[in-house]
Formats: sequence, structure tokens, C-alpha cells
Amino acid sequence: MKKYNLLQKQILQLKKEKNAVIVAHTYQTKEVQEIADLVGDSLQLSQFCASDTSQLIVFCGVHFMAESAKILSPQKTVLLPDIHAGCPMADMAKADDLVKLKERYPDAKVVCYINSTAEVKAVSDICCTSSNAVNIVKSLNAKQVIFVPDQNLGRYVSTFVPETQFILWEGYCRVHHRLQSVDLFDMKEAHPNALVAMHPECREETLEFADFIGSTKAIIDYVLEQDNNEFIIATEQGIIDRINILNPSKKLYLASECLLCKNMKKITLKKVKEALEENQYKIELEENIMNQARGCLQRMLEVPK
Ligand code: 13P
Ligand code: SF4
Repeated sequence: MKKYNLLQKQILQLKKEKNAVIVAHTYQTKEVQEIADLVGDSLQLSQFCASDTSQLIVFCGVHFMAESAKILSPQKTVLLPDIHAGCPMADMAKADDLVKLKERYPDAKVVCYINSTAEVKAVSDICCTSSNAVNIVKSLNAKQVIFVPDQNLGRYVSTFVPETQFILWEGYCRVHHRLQSVDLFDMKEAHPNALVAMHPECREETLEFADFIGSTKAIIDYVLEQDNNEFIIATEQGIIDRINILNPSKKLYLASECLLCKNMKKITLKKVKEALEENQYKIELEENIMNQARGCLQRMLEVPK
């Protein structure tokens, strides 16, 4: 039987009374992950929120994730326990600038990473996450693709689709972009038997150290499936708590202390409790933006695996 602390018990009681569902991204703290009905990567969370029947979703993640849940299920109430938990990379792309870029490349398809605002999704052709990006771009059979906002993910995806010309937005994740080749070099020296698992938001030159590159879910599956017991993890540190919950025998080394997303960590148990008590903070969006952005997300969910 799982042992919960007092705050966790209170949250689970409130959740029951309110018929709510709690979802958490894999970068959330261990104590938040423990009270969630689903812990997953951004694709899993959006699929779950689209199909689950609960009318109240408490989203433990960052703003664009809660926004995507609201876009997919506008009739539901979606709460983000800290309204300032944003994603600086999502804010690096503004819809007006994207519209201007589209005018320069009128034949290009626009693929937006789910780490983007609803306004950017509203002017994009299709969305993607880090776990399906290659498949989504391939499905388009496009000569040109504008990939927004993560240049690192876009560059990585482009290597699988050499027939497509990529126009990359210059955005990046401050957390993953901070990781340097020297960090991985030193970690490999210190742990020569460890396999290196990396997120594609890392810089191109650092990915050369990877034994495996994938989304947070793909990294978790990879670590759990390998016979090897030691891993260097090159993505946000919350994933280490997730793997420890699933298999505490794996030895995991964080590639660098810089791999901490402060925005993800803004969600605390106390704020989750307040969210349920006060019905805060509701994600609200303009209807026409929401309708246009929904097409972009739904097209992604309809692409066969
Ligand atoms: P995932 O798609 O792997 O969940 O990643 C989301 C994210 O924000 C990575 O920084
Ligand atoms: Fe955004 Fe990076 Fe945090 Fe992911 S880790 S939510 S991309 S800032």
C-alpha cells in the first residue's frame, strides 16, 4: 500500500469530492507525481485529457500543457495550480511573427511543437510532441516545413526527413540548451559503463554522446527495458524520480545540475490543494483561437503511429 503524507491525503479526498482527475508531467516533483492519476509526457497527457470523462482536470505541468487540455476539451474545467508556471520556449514564438514567416514561405507546412501558445497553434498546420515529431513531419510529405519554436528538436527531426527543407525557428529550451558537450564528456569519464539517454531538446553537438534519444516517456521505457543498470540522464531531473518510483534498482546520474525546470517545480502539493479548494487557476481562452488551435492538435492525434 502506498503511504501518503497528510497533504497528499487531503488532496486525494478533495479530488474524490470534486470528481476531479489529476495529471502530472514527468518533470513534476515526486510528491506531486504520487497523487496523479496519470504521469506522462506531453503526448500521453494530451491524449488522456482528450479521452477522459472527468469534467475537472488539475494539470500539474506548465501553461501550454494545460492550455492544450482545454483546447481539446473546451467543455471541461482545466486548472493550473500556479498560473505563472510557463514555458519560456513557448513564449519565444509569437503568432504575428509566425504569420510573417509564413508569408515568406507560402508553400511550407507549419509544424508547431506542442510547447507553443494557443495563438501559435491557431496559425500552424499541425502540432507535434517530442515523441511523434518525426512521424508527424513524415506524414506531411512536404517539400518545406517551418518548424516552430524549438530549433534543436527541429534540427534533430530534419535528419530523419532529408527530402524536406526545414526552416527552423530560433527558439530553444533554456534548461536543455544549457547542457554542454563537456558535461557529457566528464560524466562519461566518471561513469564509463553508463548508457546516455537524452532528450532531443538538447543541442545538436551534445546529442553525439547519446546512446538513446527520445521523449521523456521514451527515455523512461528505454531505461526500464535495458539490462544495463547505469544511465546518464540528459533531460529534466524530475524524470529520475519517475524512474525511481517504477524501478528503484536502476542507477541514474543526472548529466548536469543545470537540468532543472524551475517552471515545472512551481507546482507544489500546497498549490494543488488550493487549486481544488478555490477552483483556481482556470485556463480560459478566446473561442476562435481555441477552435483554430484545436484543428492543429487534432490533426496530430489523428496521424497513425
Ligand atoms: P515531452 O514531450 O518529452 O514530455 O517533453 C516536454 C518538455 O517540455 C520537454 O522539455
Ligand atoms: Fe519548457 Fe524547457 Fe521547462 Fe520543458 S524543460 S517546460 S521546454 S522550459
